[in-house]
Amino acid sequence: MAVTPNLPLLLLATFLLLAAAPLPSAAEKFVVGDKKNWAPNVNYTTWPDQYHFHVGDWLQFNYAKGMYDVVQVANQTAYDKCDPSNPLVSYDRGRGFVFQLNYTGRYYFICSRGYCWSGMKVTVLVEDSPAQPPHAAAPSPNAAARHGVVSWAVAAAAASLCAAVLGLPFAV
Ligand SMILES: *[C@@H]1O[C@H](CO)[C@@H](O)[C@H](O)[C@H]1NC(C)=O
Ligand SMILES: *[C@@H]1O[C@H](CO)[C@@H](O)[C@H](O)[C@H]1NC(C)=O
Ligand SMILES: *[C@@H]1O[C@H](CO)[C@@H](O)[C@H](O)[C@H]1NC(C)=O
Repeated sequence: MAVTPNLPLLLLATFLLLAAAPLPSAAEKFVVGDKKNWAPNVNYTTWPDQYHFHVGDWLQFNYAKGMYDVVQVANQTAYDKCDPSNPLVSYDRGRGFVFQLNYTGRYYFICSRGYCWSGMKVTVLVEDSPAQPPHAAAPSPNAAARHGVVSWAVAAAAASLCAAVLGLPFAV
């Protein structure tokens, strides 16, 4: 005797499986200075004006290897004085630094090696992410990629389940 599939129940189950899969992250990555990257003699005053920064987004500082660094300083005073003496974060390895904006508020970054005086400093204001519920962990780009794979796998599994129960051939 053939199994009679309960189609509405199957569709409901499929929907629930899909709904349970995490949504891909809406986090954005901003290259500081865009094509000018992180370098001396660039005026970063207006660079942030064209964007909105949200919790979970990333700043990517690309710089000449071995030449510059990125120092997050605590406040406007240290920023105005190009004072790196009490850094929140300090990074000078490789060709760049990727920094996650993981709380709301103003962030201040300078280069500590004298270049701050020629404009190598930037400040951004970070707002709450409208796309994320409060207290949700901000997913990394890799996690977002994995979420995509998981969603696909869940959809594929649900589709083959439907096909199997309905007696249809199905190939992923
Ligand atoms: C700014 O941060 C420095 C540490 O870098 C601290 O000593 C100073 O008290 C802070 N100033 C204000 C106004 O918060
Ligand atoms: C936020 O990011 C900074 C720098 O990447 C890190 O040191 C800090 O632990 C993070 N805070 C939270 C709450 O994830
Ligand atoms: C950067 O540009 C802003 C606005 O155009 C200007 O007010 C500021 O003086 C400039 N800063 C430097 C260091 O040139």
